[in-house]
Amino acid sequence: MTLSPETIAPTAITWCDDMLLGYTPMDHVHEEFVHCVAAVQAASDDRLLQAVQRLQEHLKRHFDDENHWMTEHNFPAKECHINEHAAVQATVSDVLAQMQQGNATNARPLANELAAWFPGHATYLDSALAHWMCKLRLGGKPVVLRRSLGNSDTQP
Ligand SMILES: [Fe+2]
Ligand SMILES: [Fe+2]
Repeated sequence: MTLSPETIAPTAITWCDDMLLGYTPMDHVHEEFVHCVAAVQAASDDRLLQAVQRLQEHLKRHFDDENHWMTEHNFPAKECHINEHAAVQATVSDVLAQMQQGNATNARPLANELAAWFPGHATYLDSALAHWMCKLRLGGKPVVLRRSLGNSDTQP
């Protein structure tokens, strides 16, 4: 994961039902991920270190859970997914080490990069794992119930 303050648009990430993948334990951890990243994006300078530390703690649990589901349940092609988790954790650790030495310049670019990274990771890697886990547990594909974001008055 490469951080570049100039090229990353600082778009605030917010949780929405479009992010649901249908495997509830993963959906809960993903909602927490979004809140942790948004907290770093919105943090004042004096709260930034605490927000990045909280993000790192979250990512450890998040990725440990997913890696465990993959290895425990013989998920095929798990290597690239596990490697991507490791690359993200390494970047977060680097940024945190810089911050602990007084350099916080990469903290917000990190959050912005994670906000941009997450939809693709969820769509291409996490969703396959969610399907796998639902298939194992329920014997079928996940059923995702998303609330309509449109004006319900205009719906038939
Ligand atoms: Fe995930
Ligand atoms: Fe993942």
